[in-house]
Amino acid sequence: MAKKSVSVLCALLLVITAFGICPASADDIQGEKPFRINVTVNGSSATERGITWYTAKNEKSLVEISGPGKPVITYDDVFEWEGNFCHKAKITALEPGSEYEYTVGSETVRSEPGVFVTDDGDGKFNFIAIADVQASSEENFEKGADTLRAAFETMPEAEFVINAGDFTNDSTNEEWDLYDKSFAQLNRAATVVPVAGNHDGLGVWHWFENMFNLDTSESVQNLNGVNYSFDYGNAHFAVLNSNDVFSLSLAQLKWLKNDLNSTDKDWKILAVHKSPYTLGKDGKWPDALYLQKALVKVVDECDVDLVLSGHDHQYLRTKPLTGGKVDENGGATYTLLGTAGSKRYEIRSFLADSFMKTENIAAMTVQKDGYGNYWNGKDWNSTRETNVGGCFNTLSIDGGTLTFNSYILADKVTDEDGNRAVTNIDSFTLTKETGKNKATFTSDNTTSEFEFYLGVVPSFGALAVYTFTEWLPKFISIVPEIIHVYRTEDTF
Ligand SMILES: [Fe+2]
Ligand SMILES: [Fe+2]
Repeated sequence: MAKKSVSVLCALLLVITAFGICPASADDIQGEKPFRINVTVNGSSATERGITWYTAKNEKSLVEISGPGKPVITYDDVFEWEGNFCHKAKITALEPGSEYEYTVGSETVRSEPGVFVTDDGDGKFNFIAIADVQASSEENFEKGADTLRAAFETMPEAEFVINAGDFTNDSTNEEWDLYDKSFAQLNRAATVVPVAGNHDGLGVWHWFENMFNLDTSESVQNLNGVNYSFDYGNAHFAVLNSNDVFSLSLAQLKWLKNDLNSTDKDWKILAVHKSPYTLGKDGKWPDALYLQKALVKVVDECDVDLVLSGHDHQYLRTKPLTGGKVDENGGATYTLLGTAGSKRYEIRSFLADSFMKTENIAAMTVQKDGYGNYWNGKDWNSTRETNVGGCFNTLSIDGGTLTFNSYILADKVTDEDGNRAVTNIDSFTLTKETGKNKATFTSDNTTSEFEFYLGVVPSFGALAVYTFTEWLPKFISIVPEIIHVYRTEDTF
């Protein structure tokens, strides 16, 4: 593993040195060269990958790859999407625990090289998690890329990057191109694990699916995003789309439950865009409450260890919870990953203990300039911190130990050399006895359209009942407090 980490670091530094200091060339964006290139998990993390890229012209797809073994490339049909041409290929027969370099394009026009490593399956690996770049302007996409660049500098041995959604703000062609321009060299430095955010489709059918080549064959399909799962080392990861009209359908919950019960991996990690537990501006909406009811039940029943989420643009970690109550012996830890970008939400303390119990909070950090009011474990403190920037998170799994660190990159330079400080804002370790999880899959995964629509209807009914019987009374009860805060605090 150490040897592989060093070689990954060298490859990454080579890529960043060669292409990372300067912005992507104009040719990379809708010019002659392929663009929107990314490598994603797709099937076995040890032997397979999906790859996606775009060209301005309708050209024949060609992936060239160098590394051990004899990788096999299978191409999808090229199709036009929003004025460009989408290419997808699946790479199989890769060697576990190996490093590969690749280029994409046609026989005459090649992309810049990218690198990725495959899982060696030894239960020891590192990865990065970010969320909510959610930018519209080039300047703000650059800030998000700065955050991820700082994450790679903090953890150069990261084998993949989980992005918990909201890659863009309005999911337009222009925004995805700006995203690509800022993130191109970073996306070519490791495997990407994308989570669909509510800003990544916005009802535009297939945007998210057309940006990433993911294996959704075992999952129910959704309108705005996809669901999928994969194993890496001794961990199982499930990725959920929570962005349709009703954040999760019953068909999704059924798939998730079966998926989580089908694995005997030591660790179960769930990545979803919307968090059940938050004190941001979305904490009070039915989505979060519905997730507290529906999703948490599956998390508890299936012994999920860690939930990674985004959406509310602040950093928050819960204590281990079962059914919304602190459970130090086997509860799941929920993390809201902060925003890697520049759109940051204040903490709405008046929601505390109504929608999110403060006694359940282990750590929380506000990223919004000039705004304080964070929970220090005892009471609400104020701060006027004005040099906090994007948040990134590093995770290491080593057998039965999972180490999580969260960092904030300063918005402004902090030393005479023009550097910006990276501050470790939270750190925790989860431990468990390995080799104990049993696979307890009991029923089928129905993926038919019929089942999907059947799943949505009861979800709608459940959401309506929940909204009127629980959410609305709670909301009405805190209206006086909301009015008071609006009148007395300069925070809205
Ligand atoms: Fe967001
Ligand atoms: Fe969001």
